Amino acid sequence: MNHRRTFLKYLAASPLYAGVPYLRSAAQGAAPQTVDAMITRSEDALDVFDFEPVARNNIPPAHWGFLSTGVDGEQTLKANRDAFARYQLHARRLVDVSHIDMSVELFGTRFSSPIILCPLSAQKAFHPEGELAVARAAKARGQLQILSTVASTGVEDVAAARGAPGLWFQLYTTSEQDVAFKLVKRAEAAGCPAVAVTVDLPAGRNTETLSRWARTDTRVCTACHAPAGSGFFTRPMFSHIDTAGLSIASPSLTWDFIKRLKDVTKMKVLIKGLECAEDAALALSHGADGIIVSNHGGRASETGRATLECLPEVVAQVRGRVPVIVDGGIRRGTDALKALALGATAVGIGRPYIWGLGAYGQPGVDRVLELLNNELRLAMVGVGARNLHEITRTSIIRPA
Ligand SMILES: Cc1cc2nc3c(=O)[nH]c(=O)nc-3n(C[C@H](O)[C@H](O)[C@H](O)COP(=O)(O)O)c2cc1C
Repeated sequence: MNHRRTFLKYLAASPLYAGVPYLRSAAQGAAPQTVDAMITRSEDALDVFDFEPVARNNIPPAHWGFLSTGVDGEQTLKANRDAFARYQLHARRLVDVSHIDMSVELFGTRFSSPIILCPLSAQKAFHPEGELAVARAAKARGQLQILSTVASTGVEDVAAARGAPGLWFQLYTTSEQDVAFKLVKRAEAAGCPAVAVTVDLPAGRNTETLSRWARTDTRVCTACHAPAGSGFFTRPMFSHIDTAGLSIASPSLTWDFIKRLKDVTKMKVLIKGLECAEDAALALSHGADGIIVSNHGGRASETGRATLECLPEVVAQVRGRVPVIVDGGIRRGTDALKALALGATAVGIGRPYIWGLGAYGQPGVDRVLELLNNELRLAMVGVGARNLHEITRTSIIRPA
């Protein structure tokens, strides 16, 4: 990986390289040009899509496949993105927008922006500094980071780099309740004020794109890490846990677990991976302190609904009693504004900050956050909203 990085740096600095065209992401929301020169410094990025090809070059093919994959034919992945185009901003003029406050309070802590860094596993697969680089960028910008159970770095080190209480923990329950409680207690001891229990991957998935990219990777995976699947338990969060016979999730998990979890921790408990009003109602009746509307970035069930389409019914069910966070396909500040207008308390991003990480480490993540924050601020100016409360359903239009 280091040789590859050195070579790419050399290539990027070479006069031969200047002006070599590449195909920019055709993703909806990317600027409408097809050919450009690849950026060579994070500060040159004009939108988050600029990081994607740089990251793709830096990251080993199998890891790139893991990052970009959806499931089956990736229709849920596409739906997440397409949903944002169904809404337009409702422009309002002659509002005093000289001061825009994007801050949001979650469980008593104020963050500078409603854009949250979602839990993504094993970030050293994308850059040697992994979660620590992300933590430093999140700290510098005052934004919330959520750490995966299967992170490459333990919660204590990431909490120290991010600073409490700006780090939440994401829980994969595993197949053993006692293991889940041990993980949660460790995160609580490290100072995390909240845990997000991920419930959208109870029994496997079919990641075709990952398999296709992995076949093109000539390296031997097991030279660096344990084989896929069992590799989860080599991660730092499992260092003092007996993992014999353990699975990362339990197909028999039900809502009772949430009640039991509430009894063993003082942390706020959010449920990550809900998509409908019925489950939102069950979450509240079992004591959940928050909901993350998510389909795992299109990586769980196929031909599902876009999370943006799921959001309104969850918000209507919750009626402001607990925070509702949404993630999936957010690539622009305008996307964030649309989700906030549909009632989200805050929004999460996944792949975009990993593009920044894979491209340039901490400065890349920092620039991704800066770009999205700037775009959100401009979107708020456009709809005449001076703070998040002034972003309402009337800030956007859905044409018939
Ligand atoms: C490579 C990758 C790894 C992920 N790992 C986790 C994880 O460990 N735990 C989890 O709850 N969600 C995980 N997710 C889902 C993200 O938290 C988030 O829901 C999703 O990435 C948001 O969609 P976006 O990538 O389109 O922004 C992962 C997503 C990706 C792309």
